[in-house]
Amino acid sequence: MGILIRNGTVLSATGAAEADVLVDGERVAAVAARDSAAAKGLATTADRVVDAAGKYVLPGGIDAHTHMEMPFGGTFSADTFETGTIAAAWGGTTTIVDFAVQPKGGTLLSTLDRWHEKADGNCAIDYGFHMIVSDVNDGTLKEMDACIDAGVNTFKMFMAYPGVFYSTDGEILLAMQRAADNGGTIMMHAENGIAIDQLVAQALASGLTDPVQHGLTRPPELEGEATHRAIALARVTGAPLYIVHLSAIQALQAVAAARDTGQNVFAETCPQYLFLSLEDMAKPYFEGAKYVASPPLRPKEHQGALWQGLRTNDLSVVSTDHCPFCFVEQKELGRGDFSKIPNGMPGVEHRMDLIYQGVVAGQLTLSRWVEVTSTTPARMFGLYPRKGVIAPGADADIVVYDPKATQTLSAATHHMNVDYSAYEGMEITGKVDTVLSRGRIVVDGTGFHGAKGHGKFLARELNQYLN
Ligand code: URP
Ligand code: ZN
Ligand code: ZN
Repeated sequence: MGILIRNGTVLSATGAAEADVLVDGERVAAVAARDSAAAKGLATTADRVVDAAGKYVLPGGIDAHTHMEMPFGGTFSADTFETGTIAAAWGGTTTIVDFAVQPKGGTLLSTLDRWHEKADGNCAIDYGFHMIVSDVNDGTLKEMDACIDAGVNTFKMFMAYPGVFYSTDGEILLAMQRAADNGGTIMMHAENGIAIDQLVAQALASGLTDPVQHGLTRPPELEGEATHRAIALARVTGAPLYIVHLSAIQALQAVAAARDTGQNVFAETCPQYLFLSLEDMAKPYFEGAKYVASPPLRPKEHQGALWQGLRTNDLSVVSTDHCPFCFVEQKELGRGDFSKIPNGMPGVEHRMDLIYQGVVAGQLTLSRWVEVTSTTPARMFGLYPRKGVIAPGADADIVVYDPKATQTLSAATHHMNVDYSAYEGMEITGKVDTVLSRGRIVVDGTGFHGAKGHGKFLARELNQYLN
């Protein structure tokens, strides 16, 4: 009994092997060198064969930064847990970690309950949660311990968005002290929101209302400054720190310097910062609104530094920050006032493909592709070795990837519940062929075969990189 994936090149964070993979139930049962006696034995036990000749076989992608149904700016991000996880599966992502959002005045545990209500029974792939802490008080700080017991040990805080998600340095310090005690990791949205709000007010007062102003009023220096400050607070408190959606050279330099001292500082970037730029935000007829996210897209010269950061491991993870808002119905809220454009971009479906373009271009090795999209997020977010590797006993979350196929990214063909693609018309090499989620073939050449409710909640262990 089982599914045999034959004749493929099995990839891991450390190398590649010509091998066959046997899946039994929800788990990987065996990996055997091609044509070995063991591989011949596997062939006799399988009742279904997937031919992966000429293809890569890699651990399912883990997107550690998504926002399904996220409340923002008077609306909600357009993907539900159902539509968003189906789109993720199409793109070879088999696990997401989504952000539960504590409202001001709300408790962390009631927030967690609310996110379980939204996600449980609706996800097509496995999922976990981070907690956005937007209201630091004695109760919240105590509840951080209970979140950890509930498998949610990563707490995102905002140095941006005053009056909404923003925390003061003092509040951040308190939460960091708690994390230093209880084993949690603080995730930081590092932009100096107080200074940014002044720049935004000045731009609007001068009649500058177009989407590109979103980028111009959030300069990279203010991401660098906030990143530096977050690192200092983490150093003082001893808390592990993970910088989310890092976009700018200045922030990368701060992370690299901290890592050089041995501090537990980690960072992710996102495909949009590697492939898109401030020029996209300047597109006419309000098209730039499609690219409004925070931090904003940067001038192109930042991209090379981010690729380099991925190679040197100063950037350890690529996540999407998937937070889609429809162009017609939702981005429209900010026509005539860029500060009212809902912040966020779609991307959960195309992360594996886009980062594979780094392999095609010689920017990343195959192993590094697997590492930054699957193995490291598994370790960082306490899922390894259940996820992030193809090895006996691991969950059979497996992607068969065709490195030679070509495709054109488009809203007309994507599966995300949003009316535009940030990468419309981009021609790329490489395409997902087959996807298994916990042993079930959810995508193959004939279509989608998964179902909402197949995905299970993952109570995560602590960050496995802490020293
Ligand atoms: O613009 C963004 N990034 N929207 C999602 C919320 C966040 O800050 O990650
Ligand atoms: Zn953020
Ligand atoms: Zn985000």
